[in-house]
Amino acid sequence: VDIVVKSKGGNKTTHMPYGLMHEDINYSGDGGLYAELIRNRAFQGSDMYPVSLAHWSSVNGAVLSIKNLSEPLSSALPSSMNVAVSKNSSSGDIGFLNAGYWGMDVRRQKYKGSFYVKGDYKGSFTASFQSALTNDTFGSVEIKSKAKKDEWVQHSFTLIPKKDAPNGNNTFALTFKSSGVKGGSLDFNLISVFPPTYKGRENGLRIDIAEPLAATQPRFLRFPGGNALEGPDINNPWKWNETIGPLKNRPGRPGVWGYQTSDGLGLVEYLQWAEDMNLEPILGVWAGLALNGEFLTKEELGPWVQDALDEIEFIRGPVSSPMGKLRASLGHPKPWPLRYVEIGNEDWLAGAPASYDAYKEYRFPMFAEAISTKYPDIQIIASPSVYDNMTIPAPYAGDYHPYREPDNFYNEFHKFDSLTKDNKTLVGEFSSTHANGGIKWAGQLHPFPWWIGSVAEGIFMIGAERNGDRILGSTYAPMIRNMNSWSWSICMIEYEADARKTSLATSYYTFKFFSTRPIFQTLPTTPDEGNTTSLFWGAGVGEDGEKIVKFANYNTTSSAPTPVKLSFDDEDAKEAKLTMLTGTGDPYAYNEPLKPNRVVKETSRTLRANRKGLFEFEMPELSVAVVELTGR
Ligand code: AHR
Repeated sequence: VDIVVKSKGGNKTTHMPYGLMHEDINYSGDGGLYAELIRNRAFQGSDMYPVSLAHWSSVNGAVLSIKNLSEPLSSALPSSMNVAVSKNSSSGDIGFLNAGYWGMDVRRQKYKGSFYVKGDYKGSFTASFQSALTNDTFGSVEIKSKAKKDEWVQHSFTLIPKKDAPNGNNTFALTFKSSGVKGGSLDFNLISVFPPTYKGRENGLRIDIAEPLAATQPRFLRFPGGNALEGPDINNPWKWNETIGPLKNRPGRPGVWGYQTSDGLGLVEYLQWAEDMNLEPILGVWAGLALNGEFLTKEELGPWVQDALDEIEFIRGPVSSPMGKLRASLGHPKPWPLRYVEIGNEDWLAGAPASYDAYKEYRFPMFAEAISTKYPDIQIIASPSVYDNMTIPAPYAGDYHPYREPDNFYNEFHKFDSLTKDNKTLVGEFSSTHANGGIKWAGQLHPFPWWIGSVAEGIFMIGAERNGDRILGSTYAPMIRNMNSWSWSICMIEYEADARKTSLATSYYTFKFFSTRPIFQTLPTTPDEGNTTSLFWGAGVGEDGEKIVKFANYNTTSSAPTPVKLSFDDEDAKEAKLTMLTGTGDPYAYNEPLKPNRVVKETSRTLRANRKGLFEFEMPELSVAVVELTGR
């Protein structure tokens, strides 16, 4: 292929070509990015996931039970754990231990913990980490009791283990002297332990997961879902105002992916995450449609429209506004920036009663009109897109979620070329999910991102980026997966309790490869940017004015490499840097979870142009590459 990159005629693109999307799926919030080590820390429950003592067990014969005390810790946390001295506990240390999210990472670093206790106790508590497999204790700390008979008293501690645990099979224990207990038992709630977090945020993110996400140099964060925003039924959407403030005021809720969520990773934590990674927040607001298909009528929606306005005011309103004041009272007087709001998730106007003109007078327009009247600078995004047979009236944008077979991405490279400027679109979720062959959703998702799927995603990313004046940005989804329990296998990052084992899927490499070399101004090429038989490309100008050409080669019929001739029409180009990702030769190769990368190989070399300014190189059958013009 003989490609000439033109110097004129392109478009300025979005400022946020790549970003992140997060919802609590695959234990990606609780048990994942949210760094809390204690599972079921506050005995939260719902009709769907009743309160229980799951993940707690007794130490030295203590009798554990759930109590709903007449004076609970808070109305949000009505249940607590009663720990009673029994005949079997003699006068020794009794207490309880927590098994964490399939263990916990214990190392010589500073852990910060706290718990609430109610009851008459003189003496001290001991907090410790130990192996679940051996008798090894890695570290412990004594905490002097301030406990009172009729009052919930919070205790805080710092615990620095003396040695690293060899693996993640560890537990946390809290014990006390049974002889010091008057009244036979103590009540506990909100028992929490955090390791060091990303950028040192209190109640923050797990470093081993946050760092590789940050390394993709994302520009936006879409949250809190996905399906998680919608909630399992009409009574349980994600309610922003129940996810803010002290943890004891957060009731949690039944998530949509098979578990109760604590909402410790709440609205403020999402915004801090955005702040810490310099991300443009894309806030999803609930639009009256639940995942099970239940929906609110037009008449019932009014309070939810107001709720969305309140949430926006909480985020960016002045301190003089009621919600801005609330934000300030939580320690954040400074408003956060918010310029993008998405109405619902994958709404597709499902369930719209036939008697309404759904476009003109129902869910989406009700929210969109109210928000843009009050906040005309906010870009409203509808949760379906023009690719879902929806008309999204300008200036509103749509959201497109292609979960595809690799061949689909190959065939749809030109999909966005015909988008009009009135059809701005976010790609709020994308990935190769199913093997080629047309089984689609009738079959299983592929067990892991795999090389041919990751290269196809590369084609898709180029297709989106070269239309970046109308594509607001693109993000892979879901991003992360706890290997102990998951419902969605295709994710960029896998992990378990042992933070030393966090692993990166093949798609992480292709995503990061392109996301860290963003184009902010497209440049046309001849032949027209795009595919020949197997080679796809797109050209543009990067952040520092450098010319960039991105390539993906998806040759499934021949192992012969594709020769490329590349030149620039206005440059006396002499030198360029060619960086390339290749696989093992096996299109189905994938990185094993919790193991180092074995599939993706990155190589880099300097290309020198011939006297006519022509660069020549070859693209292997399944590969992605970037050429950056360096020397003139
Ligand atoms: O990313 C997994 C799910 O796929 C999201 O929750 C939903 O938006 C989409 O259908």
